[in-house]
This record gives sequence, structure tokens and C-alpha cells, in this order.
Amino acid sequence: MKCRTCGAKAAVNMRQHKLALCKQHFLDWVPIQTARFIKKYRMFGPEERVLVAVSGGKDSLSLWDILHRLGYQADGLYLGLGIDEGLGYSDESRRLTEQFARQHGLKLHIVDVQATYGYDIPTLSALTHRGQNRPCAVCGVVKRHEMNRIARDLGYDVLATGHNLDDEASVLFGNTLSWQAEFLLRQGPVLPAHDGLARKVKPLCRFYEKEMTAYALLRGIEYIYEECPFSAGSTTIYYKELLNRLENDRPGAKLAFYLKFLEARENGLFRSSLDSSQPMYNCPSCGQPTQYEGKCSFCRMIEKVQPA
Ligand code: AMP
Ligand code: FES
Ligand code: ZN
Ligand code: ZN
Repeated sequence: MKCRTCGAKAAVNMRQHKLALCKQHFLDWVPIQTARFIKKYRMFGPEERVLVAVSGGKDSLSLWDILHRLGYQADGLYLGLGIDEGLGYSDESRRLTEQFARQHGLKLHIVDVQATYGYDIPTLSALTHRGQNRPCAVCGVVKRHEMNRIARDLGYDVLATGHNLDDEASVLFGNTLSWQAEFLLRQGPVLPAHDGLARKVKPLCRFYEKEMTAYALLRGIEYIYEECPFSAGSTTIYYKELLNRLENDRPGAKLAFYLKFLEARENGLFRSSLDSSQPMYNCPSCGQPTQYEGKCSFCRMIEKVQPA
């Protein structure tokens, strides 16, 4: 297989795009594509301040690397979740994120959940879901809240996450199986700013997970290989496996599933649920938007675990 651009031996063969590229041309192609997506979905401009949520994984570190290469003003945010499980998962992901920031001279904000709120994620989960300990659900609420809070408090215009096509297609598949119209309406490459919250963007949403793995490896980015130890057996991973089987038989099916959805959404499918999907209240404690009157789920959780 030869590189389409220069004819040298290809390092990456993307059957889904009918495109093979050598190392150098693949490493050029990824930022060019990312810049196209940023423009196409009107994610942000060069004058805007971007906060990249960096977990230490391949996607978010690559995203930070790409935005930096493209010349955007992108600082990082690492959230210390306190997940150990005998593997030192959080410690290692923090070390790799700090190392990347240092190597590239980038600014990194670090928020440690335990130092800020008194408990790490596993403890918060055990305290709040005694019967059904679900760390990833608690973790999702905390991450969303903290990313919103830091982006707002530090005055960033945009919050960028490293979600790739496999992540997006898996969530889309789950929401489609149960026809969750209000979630479907809000799932996209951009969630506009509202109520003091920064705009949220996913510049990697059209890249296959394996493309991001290739990018990180070929760029020599050191990242944490392990998935969150609590995510084993999750439905997200199950849907990813199902979609990979489909993709294997029909290269490009995953991307088509996502892009056709964006097109349908753009054309007004789900539009009737638009109004009801917008959060209508503000949490009296933290000020972030909520779907229901009263404190948001994060503040309710923190209140629940505070000593009386
Ligand atoms: P996940 O929710 O683990 O699938 O991660 C999705 C995205 O959330 C990642 O690509 C990151 O942008 C962000 N993220 C996940 N974990 C962290 C973390 N500990 N600190 C900062 N950002 C994170
Ligand atoms: Fe954070 Fe699983 S506990 S993603
Ligand atoms: Zn080439
Ligand atoms: Zn709140």
C-alpha cells in the first residue's frame, strides 16, 4: 500500500476513506481535517480562548497537540478524580498530562476533586449510590460540572473535549435505540454557549478511534493506555463493539451513521422537542443551568455527603 500523496510506503490505511498515507502525510492530514471541521461546524475562531479538557488519554492529548500545532490559544484542564483501583490510574494520567504540558510549554489547570470537595469519585459514588455503586455515572456528573465551572470562572470562550467518532456513534446508537429525542437534539459537534456556560465543542468527532490512536503513536505522544477501570462492561463499550462489527463488514458505516444523523438533525428532525430540551432553571447554589427547579444534581450530591 502506497501513500496517496507521495507514493512512499503507507503507514496508515484508512479503508473507511479509501485513503492510505505515509507517516508524514498522515500527521499533516489530521490537523488539516481538524481545521476543516472546526470551520465547518463553526466551533471557534483564532481569537477565542479555548480550554481543552485533558484526561491523559490519546484523544484529548492529541486534540491539545493538534490545536497547538494549528496555532490556537488552547490551555488544558486536568481533573483529578482519585481513581486508583490498584493501577494508579489517576496518578499516571495526571503525570502524563503534566509531562505533555511541560514538553510543549503549555498552560495546564489542575483541579483535584478530593482536595476541592473532600471526596474522590469512588468514595462519592459509594456514599451516594449505596445500593448500586456506579462510579462512572457519578464521575460524569462531576466532570461536567467542574469543566463548566472552571471554563466560566476563568473566562474561557470554548470548552473542547476529545470525544472521537466511536464515542459519538456509540452514544448516538444508545440514544437512538430508546429514541431519546431531547438527547439526540443536543448531541452534536457544538453545544452553543448559554447562561454563562462556555460553548462546548468536539473537534475530533469525525475521526475514528483508530485514527486517533495512530496519530498519538506516530506523533510519539505518551498517553495512558488503560480505560477507566470502572468502565469495564459498560453499555458504551458494548455499543462500540457492535458498531465495530458493522464497520468491519461495511467500512465507512460508522461515519455515515453519525453524519446522516447530523444531516437529519440539521433538516429539522427532532425540532419539535427543541424548546423542552433547553434547561429552564438555574441551580440556586452554583448557578449552572438545570432541567428541573432546585439544586442541580452535582450540588445535591455534594450536599448529601456533607457531614451534618
Ligand atoms: P470520557 O468521558 O472519559 O469518555 O472522556 C471524554 C472527554 O472528557 C475526554 O476526551 C476529555 O476531553 C474529557 N475528560 C475525561 N476525563 C477527564 C479528566 N480527568 N480531566 C479532564 N478532562 C477529562
Ligand atoms: Fe470516571 Fe469511569 S469513573 S469514567
Ligand atoms: Zn506521503
Ligand atoms: Zn449546582
